[in-house]
Amino acid sequence: DEAEPPDRETLLALAVEIAEEAGEMLLAKRPDRPEVLATKSSPTDVVTALDRAAEELIRARIGEARPHDAILGEEGGDTPGTGRVKWVVDPIDGTVNFLYGLPDWAVSIGVEVDGEIVAGAVHNVPRGELFSASKGGGAWLRGERLSCNTGVPLDRALIATGFGYGVARRRVQAEVVAQVLPRVRDIRRIGSCALDLCAVATGRVDGYYERGANYWDHAAAGLVATEAGARVGGLNGRPVGVDMLLCAAPGLFEDLHDLLVPLDPERD
Ligand code: IPD
Ligand code: CA
Ligand code: CA
Ligand code: CA
Repeated sequence: DEAEPPDRETLLALAVEIAEEAGEMLLAKRPDRPEVLATKSSPTDVVTALDRAAEELIRARIGEARPHDAILGEEGGDTPGTGRVKWVVDPIDGTVNFLYGLPDWAVSIGVEVDGEIVAGAVHNVPRGELFSASKGGGAWLRGERLSCNTGVPLDRALIATGFGYGVARRRVQAEVVAQVLPRVRDIRRIGSCALDLCAVATGRVDGYYERGANYWDHAAAGLVATEAGARVGGLNGRPVGVDMLLCAAPGLFEDLHDLLVPLDPERD
């Protein structure tokens, strides 16, 4: 076994290469009207043949380059490794957009070393945008360093959100968004958690919140957002993944947090 994993930039380069290859495959193979192969947690939670094919391709490429690494993927689950590196994969984030031909879906690949994400690549395939970040190395798009919007007051903030699958959860989320909407500039529902986080990083929105996002949704893009200066976290200092995922520049993060805490019906 290797004593030291490769450095972050080397891992990032591999993540970028694989996210690009998976994106090319998806673009080439996406039929005009992709079919729903199965539903998962609820009728709105769909999977297509290409979600699975993309994850298989990504797993094969990781396996060729790094046969001892662990992999967690949305479609294929947890595959243990024997070293310090773990890959966290969402083969298509934004499957519903993919299904309808809306141009916001992404291949997301995050890389952990010793349980911490150190590199992330998010490829918005239809728009040809590759977001990348390494821990301490900044967040990047097309050779330009990203920085999130700062100093935006809540009432002038454009806030992205997402709705996890499941009817009961959606009812609650609709109630929360009804309270948030009159307090902010406007709401966006882009349809991909990874691209929501990258949108904060780019300054295309000011903030983002969602309850119930999964690790593979935000592993790579969470690093893109933090490296762009945003704060990513949960409610009441809890880490992301326990309850709410919140992302915004410091200042707006706290204002959004304080707005959401009393509204959140699943709070402690
Ligand atoms: C979903 C998207 C969506 C978010 C859901 C996710 P998927 O991922 O990121 O924007 O609201 O919570 O599950 O299923 O398209 O990979
Ligand atoms: Ca899914
Ligand atoms: Ca996802
Ligand atoms: Ca997915």
